[in-house]
Amino acid sequence: MSEAVSASSTAPPNGAHRPAPAHRPVLIEQVIAFLAPRSGGHFIDGTVGAGGHAAAILERTGPDGRLLAIDRDPAALELARARLADYAGRVVFRHANFSDVAAVAGEERFRDVNGVVADLGVSSMMLDDAHRGFSFRQDGPLDMRMDPSQSVTASDIVNRAGETELADIIYRYGEERRSRRIARAIVRARPHRGTRDLAGAIESVSGGGRRGRIHPATRTFLALRVAVNRELDHLEAFLDGVPALLAGGARLAVISFHSLEDRIVKHRMRAIGRVVNRKVVRPDESERMANPRSRSAKLRVMERQ
Ligand SMILES: C[S@@+](CC[C@H](N)C(=O)[O-])C[C@H]1O[C@@H](n2cnc3c(N)ncnc32)[C@H](O)[C@@H]1O
Repeated sequence: MSEAVSASSTAPPNGAHRPAPAHRPVLIEQVIAFLAPRSGGHFIDGTVGAGGHAAAILERTGPDGRLLAIDRDPAALELARARLADYAGRVVFRHANFSDVAAVAGEERFRDVNGVVADLGVSSMMLDDAHRGFSFRQDGPLDMRMDPSQSVTASDIVNRAGETELADIIYRYGEERRSRRIARAIVRARPHRGTRDLAGAIESVSGGGRRGRIHPATRTFLALRVAVNRELDHLEAFLDGVPALLAGGARLAVISFHSLEDRIVKHRMRAIGRVVNRKVVRPDESERMANPRSRSAKLRVMERQ
């Protein structure tokens, strides 16, 4: 349910003076093993975030290696620029949605690339910054936009959507069985000004306690985030755009964090290439312990034939 991070042993060379990464890349050794970056290779990172996976790829591709680094969050791109400063000249940064990967790669002359990676969802920086509104653990505005230039915010949905539409969003994207009850409580308690306020309305119809390990607001917050950012539509467009960019035998590695994403990745990969790992790859216990946010990560890899 929650997002990324893992212990990384891939700090850039001479990188001691660089800012410490705020986000630890998940399943990094496995991603590198599957993509097997070689000297001179050209790669695309569709979700560069804090640059963890990108740094590991750049470290292995040598002075002629190149990487196209895409992110829809300008703050993440700034962080990636700082983190990847040692590789300046070999990285092209683009503020874009990965659903436009084909157009962006064409503009930047990335063709027949040796591998593509996408590490989906939100970064630790987004989750930990109360002002972005992704977390119910700290109070913040009902925003949840990964790209602040988008027009629709969580507040628009929470305070304006009809009760049935809201329930459908919570059910479909959050897989929340109590969607109708939660939607009714949200509509009754309008207007909602912040994340704690919204979480309180959800808690009020969830018996006050936690169901199992997750907080009662977890699924609703996930659903709103997916809806605000139209995450599933963009993922499908990305998966449709990638195959034409890959050289023969090159691979696409995708890390997802919830079942709806994983289902899309699994089915599309079957349709667009050879599935490399029939069994999904998950973080081992030491990674899960070191980085609880990695717990729900699932890696799937396909190869262009
Ligand atoms: C889990 S983080 C990536 C972390 C990165 N692999 C690292 O090692 O630091 C996910 C990133 O994907 C970005 N993102 C999510 N959906 C996107 C999309 N449709 N297009 C571009 N970037 C996206 C988010 O803004 C966020 O920075």
